[in-house]
Formats: sequence, structure tokens, C-alpha cells
Amino acid sequence: MNDAQAIVHALRTQQVDAIVGDRHVSFVRLKRVELELERSRDQLRVLAARLELQRENERSEIAREIHDELGQSLTSLQLGLAWLTNTVTLTPKIRTKLKAMSALASASIRSVRDVAVRLRPGPLDELGLVKTLRGEARAFKAHTGISCRFETNLQNPLCERTGSIAVFRIVQAALTNVARHAQASRAVIALMKRRNDLVVMVRDNGRGITRAQLAKPGACGVIGMRERARALDGRLTLTGSRGRGTTLTAHFPLAKVIVTSAVAASAPGPSRAERR
Ligand SMILES: Nc1ncnc2c1ncn2[C@@H]1O[C@H](COP(=O)(O)OP(=O)(O)OP(=O)(O)O)[C@@H](O)[C@H]1O
Ligand SMILES: [Mg+2]
Repeated sequence: MNDAQAIVHALRTQQVDAIVGDRHVSFVRLKRVELELERSRDQLRVLAARLELQRENERSEIAREIHDELGQSLTSLQLGLAWLTNTVTLTPKIRTKLKAMSALASASIRSVRDVAVRLRPGPLDELGLVKTLRGEARAFKAHTGISCRFETNLQNPLCERTGSIAVFRIVQAALTNVARHAQASRAVIALMKRRNDLVVMVRDNGRGITRAQLAKPGACGVIGMRERARALDGRLTLTGSRGRGTTLTAHFPLAKVIVTSAVAASAPGPSRAERR
């Protein structure tokens, strides 16, 4: 190799090194950005789960206050009205007025109870997940006129509190969507144990969700449902078929929601599952 060739060779090698070097630097930077993105996504998820827990706790507190304070006052008011009606001689006009006031107090007590239940899924603690979801199906039909069936292959399951709240809230959000968007006449809620998975399904026979609707940036309901599922190491899918309905399916590791799915026959006294 003569001098001229040597110089050309050296220049080319440097250029190639420079290009490879640049690419390498870009690649390393890209990798770092990717890792940072992944990390901040994880942090966001942890934050979302913590906020959710805080929200549930605050809701429980407000529900308790509404139920105990307001509920108590209204009950006292109703008792006072009943005492007046029974002990004082009243003109028919006043008696009618008192009757109307008593009916109003009763309606207010019912509203307070309803608000408290919406805020805190109290029935979950008292009745357990299966009975609560069966009740939701019944209430949904009564409020919307859309027929709603509940199916399960679980018997008296004993549930984790966090897990069952997540399942309950997902079903609630899905039913709200059915009422608001689906134009359906039928809905089905299913809670099924399949090997080591718990599968939650909400299906309707309405217009069917589209891909565009799913990708809508403001679709907070769907994002919230996904986050709830992810927080329990679960996954959630929504599929729609035009004019043939929408199906929401969430899979969870069974142990995240269900502790046991049968009541021990020999257990003395009421079992924990029965008490829930
Ligand atoms: N069961 C359903 N049938 C048909 N369309 C649906 C159904 N569920 C959701 N959608 C569509 O998907 C969109 C996103 O739903 P999402 O619950 O995320 O938002 P939203 O209900 O509009 O608002 P919100 O944040 O109050 O829940 C809805 O606006 C609706 O167009
Ligand atoms: Mg919604």
C-alpha cells in the first residue's frame, strides 16, 4: 500500500468508526430513554393503585359519616313524627301533613342508604362478591329496564377485600357503559373460576364498541378498568361486533380475588365466608 492509499484507507476507517460510533451512541441513548419510559410507566401504575386505595378509603369514610350522622338524624326525625301522630290529638289536616312528612323522612333514609352503598361497596363486606353482583344485576334491571342475568360457578367464595372491590368496580363501570352507550336489551355478568384464573365477563347485545371508541383519548372509564385489572396482575379486553354487542373480559390470578371457593361443612358456627 502506497502513501496515498494508506491515507485514503485511514480516512475511510475513521469515517466508518465515526458512523458506527454515532449509531452506537444513538442506540445506547434510545435504550436509556426506553428504560426510563418503562420505569415512569411502572411508577404511574403504582401511583394510580395508591390513589385508588386512597379513594376507596375516603369513600368509605364519607359513606360511614353520611350513613351514621345523616341516617341517625333522619331516623330520629321519623320517630319524632311517629310519636306526634300517636300521642297528640290532631286535626285531619295536620295528620295528613305529618303523614307526608313521615313519608319524606322514609324516602330520605332510603336515599341516604343508597348513596352510602354507592360510595362504599358495603354489601361486599356483608354479603360477599357473588351475592353483591347478583344484587347489582337485579338493581341494574330495575333502574334501566335492560334485562340482566348473573352467572357463576363459584359457591360461597371467601374473597380478598382489595380484589373483590376491583372486580365490583369494574363490573359497575361496565354496566354504566352498557346503560349509557350500548342501546342493548340484554346484559350478562359472569364470574367464573377457570383453573387458576378468575374470569369476569360483562356482555351486552347492543351496538358494539368500535376500535376508534376504544382508542378515544378521553376514554377514562376503560383506562380505569384496565388499571384496576393490571393492579391485580390481571388483564382486561373489550371487543365489540357491530350490532351484535360488546364483551368485556377480565382475567385475574384466582388467588388475587378468591381465598377459598367453598364453605367447609365441618366448620363450627358461621364460617368467615358466610359472615361476609
Ligand atoms: N358496552 C358498550 N357498548 C357500546 N359502546 C361502548 C360500550 N362501552 C363503552 N363504549 C364506547 O366506548 C367509549 C369509551 O368508554 P369509557 O367508559 O372509557 O368512557 P365514557 O363512558 O364515555 O366516559 P366515562 O369516563 O364517564 O366512563 C364510550 O364513550 C362509548 O362510545
Ligand atoms: Mg364509561
